[in-house]
Amino acid sequence: MNLVREVRQAEIDADVKTLSSRGKERNITYGELQPHFAFMIFDEHRLGRDSTVVDLGSGIGNLVVQAAVQTGCSAFGVELRPELACLAERIRRATVQECEERGICMGNVTLESGDMFASTLLPHWIRQADLIIVNNKAFSSELNEAIIARLLLKAKHGASIVSTALFITGQRTRYARPRDYETSVGGGKIYVGTRFVFYQYL
Ligand SMILES: C[S@@+](CC[C@H](N)C(=O)[O-])C[C@H]1O[C@@H](n2cnc3c(N)ncnc32)[C@H](O)[C@@H]1O
Repeated sequence: MNLVREVRQAEIDADVKTLSSRGKERNITYGELQPHFAFMIFDEHRLGRDSTVVDLGSGIGNLVVQAAVQTGCSAFGVELRPELACLAERIRRATVQECEERGICMGNVTLESGDMFASTLLPHWIRQADLIIVNNKAFSSELNEAIIARLLLKAKHGASIVSTALFITGQRTRYARPRDYETSVGGGKIYVGTRFVFYQYL
């Protein structure tokens, strides 16, 4: 993952420092899952060239780019904040170029700037996703509920959903396996569940 780290440092490290503070609105708070943790998640899910990863709220594209380099999978990310989406595109381009120069077969990365609920591309990607990531710890309950009802229910059976906060609480939590994780803004638990969980309870 040195390549991903190097590109990130060269392209955008200075800009990210100014973006990582909490915004006025909690839904658009920025924080990143750490690369070594993401590495483990992609590895455990045995992703390969035929796999698809989707990141809902993809920030600077760190996870989708890493997934495509690490596993050769196709990856799609959608980000609401245009300044982050713009950095993501810079990282994507630089990584593609670096992979070409080093002879690394990177998967295809598609990025969209805008609201995940307004995306016309997302339903297609959600339907074919094997792994959906939602770093939703700072998201409001309304946003989390909308993500389940309007997006996650479109996922195929068996698709894995990795989130940093539970979408559903109470008795239903037993279906999501908690794991420790670290982000750039602190630690906590991560939850790994499958699409079936959401289907069963809605
Ligand atoms: C905590 S960051 C996650 C960044 C990256 N996915 C990671 O985990 O390393 C959550 C991102 O979700 C974005 N977001 C919030 N609401 C959104 C929406 N409706 N559509 C697209 N992105 C959204 C925020 O702007 C923020 O950049």
